[in-house]
Amino acid sequence: MNLWQTAIEDALAVTRRNIERFGDRFPHVSAGNERYTLNDNTEWTAGFWSGILWLCSEYADDPSFRIHAVRTVQNFRSRMDRKIVFDHHDIGFLYSLSSKAQWILEGEEEARKLTLEAADMLMKRWRKKIGIIQAWGREGDVQNGGRIIIDCMLNIPLLFWAYEQTGEEAYRAAAEAHARKSQRFLVRGDGSSYHTFYFDQETGDAVRGGTHQGYADGSTWTRGQAWGIYGFALAARYLNDPSMLDTATSLALHFAERLPEDQVAYWDFEAPVTFETKRDSSASAIAACGMLEIVSQLGDHDPRSRKLAETARSSMESLVQNYSTHGDPSAEGLIRHGSYSVRGGDSPDDYTIWGDYYYLEALMRLERGIPGYWYERANPKR
Ligand code: GLY
Repeated sequence: MNLWQTAIEDALAVTRRNIERFGDRFPHVSAGNERYTLNDNTEWTAGFWSGILWLCSEYADDPSFRIHAVRTVQNFRSRMDRKIVFDHHDIGFLYSLSSKAQWILEGEEEARKLTLEAADMLMKRWRKKIGIIQAWGREGDVQNGGRIIIDCMLNIPLLFWAYEQTGEEAYRAAAEAHARKSQRFLVRGDGSSYHTFYFDQETGDAVRGGTHQGYADGSTWTRGQAWGIYGFALAARYLNDPSMLDTATSLALHFAERLPEDQVAYWDFEAPVTFETKRDSSASAIAACGMLEIVSQLGDHDPRSRKLAETARSSMESLVQNYSTHGDPSAEGLIRHGSYSVRGGDSPDDYTIWGDYYYLEALMRLERGIPGYWYERANPKR
C-alpha cells in the first residue's frame, strides 16, 4: 500500500469506531483531552461528520458507512424542519456535505429537495443593498449586519449549485455578487487576506477589513486564507471565470511560500513563531484540497500548477507522517494540532472535525480523484 492508501485505511478504521462511539450525535472539536465534544446537530460543523461518512462509503466496500451517512441526512431533515440554529451562513457547509452528497452519489430526490430548502435558507442572508451574504447575526445587527467573512466562500457553492439545479437566476446573482465583493475587499494585493470586512449597512460603502480569529486585523489567519484558496477556486469553476482562478492561485502561492519547514501552517502567518506557537493542521488540509482543485482547473501545462501540486503533496505527507493519529487505535480524530480559535482560547490545539474532513477529502483526491461534494461530477455513477 502507498502512503495515501495506508492513511485512508487508518481513517476508515477510526471512522468505524466513531460510528459506535458517536451514535446519532455529531462531533465538533476536542477540548484538550483528545475526545470529541458531541452535540445533537446544533453546531456549524455537523455536516463534516456526514461528509466523512459519505467519503468512506465511496471508497470502501462496507455498507455500514452508507447506512450511517443516510441516518445523518435524516437528522439534517429534522434540523431543517425545526430550524435549529440557522442564524448564520454555515448552512452551506451543513447541507453540501450531507444531503447534497447523497444527491450527488445516489440521485435521491428527497436529498435534492432538502438541499434546495437549505439554499433558500441561505438566501435569507442575502443583503441586496450591500451585495453580500451576511455571515453572522440578524439583519441590521449593529456589529455584524454589514459583515462578510472569507469562510463564506465555501458556503456559496450551495447557491451556485441551486442555480444549476433550478435555473433560478437569484441564486447565481447573489453568489456571484458576494464572490466579487470578497475578491475585491478580502484579498490584498500581495495575495494575503483579511478574515472579515465591514460595509456600511445604509450606503453599502466599504468601511474596513478586520479579523475575528486571526492574530491582528491586518494579519493573515491561515485558515481564512485556506477557505479563500478553495472557495475562490470553486467560484472559478462555477462561473468559468479566469480572474477567480487567478485570485485562488495567488492566495495559494502566498500560502505555499510561507509554510514552515514541516509544510504545515501555523495558525496565523503574522503570529510570532516560538516553540509554543500553535499550528492549524486544518488550514493545511483545506489548503491542500484547494490547491488540488486549482491544479485540476489550471492544467499541468501552467507553471503555477507544479508548485501547488508539490505543496499539496508535501503538506499531506507531513500531515500523514507527523500529525495523523496513525498507530493509535483509541484515537477519535484523524489529525492532531488543529486550532479552532487561538485568539479566543477555544480548542487551540485539538482535533477539529473539519480538519479531519478535509484531510480525508485531500487523501481521496490524491488516491482516487474523488473531489468531495462541492459540485456535480462530470460522470456521476448514479
Ligand atoms: N468557519 C469557521 C471557522 O473556520 O472557524
